[in-house]
Amino acid sequence: MKLRNSSVVSVLPAHDIFRNNPCRFSFHVFHVNLSKRRRISSTVSQKRQVSVKVGMGADQYLPPWFSVAPMMEWTDHHYRTLARIISKHAWLYTEMIATETIVHQEHNLDRFLAFSPEQHPIVLQIGGSNLDSIAKATQLAKPYGYDEINLNCGCPSPKVAGHGCFGVRLMLDPKFVAKAMSVIAANTDAPISVKCRIGVDDYDSYNELCDFIYKVSSLSPTRHFIIHSRKALLNGISPAENRTIPPLKYEYFYGLLRDFPDLRFTINGGIKTIDEVNAARKAGAHGVMVGRAAYHNPWQLLGHVDTEIYGAPSSGITRRQVLEKYQVYGDSILWRDGRKPNVRDVVKPLINFFHSSPGNSLWKRKADAAFHHCMTIKSFFEETLVAIPDSVLDAPIAGPPPLGREGLFANVESLMPPPYESSEQELLHA
Ligand SMILES: Cc1cc2nc3c(=O)[nH]c(=O)nc-3n(C[C@H](O)[C@H](O)[C@H](O)COP(=O)(O)O)c2cc1C
Repeated sequence: MKLRNSSVVSVLPAHDIFRNNPCRFSFHVFHVNLSKRRRISSTVSQKRQVSVKVGMGADQYLPPWFSVAPMMEWTDHHYRTLARIISKHAWLYTEMIATETIVHQEHNLDRFLAFSPEQHPIVLQIGGSNLDSIAKATQLAKPYGYDEINLNCGCPSPKVAGHGCFGVRLMLDPKFVAKAMSVIAANTDAPISVKCRIGVDDYDSYNELCDFIYKVSSLSPTRHFIIHSRKALLNGISPAENRTIPPLKYEYFYGLLRDFPDLRFTINGGIKTIDEVNAARKAGAHGVMVGRAAYHNPWQLLGHVDTEIYGAPSSGITRRQVLEKYQVYGDSILWRDGRKPNVRDVVKPLINFFHSSPGNSLWKRKADAAFHHCMTIKSFFEETLVAIPDSVLDAPIAGPPPLGREGLFANVESLMPPPYESSEQELLHA
C-alpha cells in the first residue's frame, strides 16, 4: 500500500454537515456565520482582500491576485477540494450555474450550491438573461455565503449564447448587463464581478470593449471585470475552438487598465505558469485567472501559488499527503446518491496529478484498469500508486517554479490601442 496512515485533515463536503442538521434555518445561519469568519481569515491571509459593497470606492476593492477559472464539468466540488488541499490562497470559481437551474431546483439547492467550508474563498458564477431569475437565484444563493458573485458574459457555447441568449451574447447588450449586475448587488452582501471576452464577432474593436465596460460600470455597482483576452465567435465553432482560434490580445486588457483607472481588472486567457502569472501582475494586472493550466497540471501550478504569489511559507505538503487527504474526502462522498459519484468521478481531477512525472503513463494505465472494479478510493490508490516512485510521492513542491514564456507581456505597451474617448451622454442614452 502506498499511502501511509498519517493524521489526515477531514475534508467533508457540506452535505455531511447539513445532513446532521435537520433545521434548515439554523444551517443557513451556520453557513453565513462561517462565511463571515472565512472572509475575515482570508482577508488576513491575503493581507489586502477587502469586500466591496455598493457605494464603496473601487480603490477599496482588490480582486484576488490569483484565481482558478470557472470551468464547466471541471471545477466541480471534487476538483475544488483537490485544489484547496494544494493551495490555501487561490480563489476558486464554481462552474457556471444557470440562474434558471437554481430557481427551478429551489428545493434541491445543496446539489448545486453547497460546498465544503474549506473551499473559501470561493466565487459563484451564474449565467442567465432573465432579471427575475437572476434576482431569485442570487437570493437563493445568499445563505451559502459565497465570497463573490460573478456573472458570465463570456461563454460562447450555442446552448448558452444561442438558445439561452446569455453568456457572451450579453456583451451585445451592456445596459442589460448593468441591470443584471444591479439586481445581483441588491440581492447579495458579496462583492460582484463580470467575466467577459474582449468582444464578440464584429463587435470587437477596442472602443466597443470600452463602451461595454463604461456602460456596465456607470450604470451598475460593478467595479471588477475579468477579461478573457480573446473575442468569441458565434459562427458555429465549438467552445473549445473558441478558446484557441481567436487570437489573444493582451494589449486590450492593459488598455483597459490605462483607460479605467478606477476599476479593477483580472486578466485571463493563455497564462500557463506561475512565472507568467507574476509577469502579468508585474505589468499591472490587479488579478490573474488561470483555467486550463491549473487543470492540466494542478501540482506544479497550484503548488507554487501560496509561496510564489502570496509570499506564504511553504506548507511542505507532498503528493502522498495530498492524496491521503483527498482519499478521506473521496471515500466520504462516494456513492452518495446510490450510483453517483463513482470512483471515476472522484478520481477525475487527479488524472493530471502526476503530469510529466516518472510513472505517470503506467499510473494512467493502471487507473484505466482499476476503474472497472475498485469500489473505494482507498483500494483505487492501493492498486494504482505502485506505479509512482516514492521519490515522486514524498517530495514537496520544489521551487523555483518553471519559467514561463519570456516577454509574454513585453510588447503590450507598443501594441496598446489609442486611449478610449467616450461621449458620456451619447453613450448612456444610446
Ligand atoms: C472545460 C472548460 C469549461 C469552461 N467553462 C466555463 C464556465 O463555466 N464559465 C466561464 O466563464 N468560462 C468557462 N471556461 C473558460 C475559462 O474560464 C477561461 O476563460 C478560458 O479557459 C481561458 O483561460 P485559460 O487559457 O487559462 O484556460 C471554460 C473553459 C474550459 C476549458
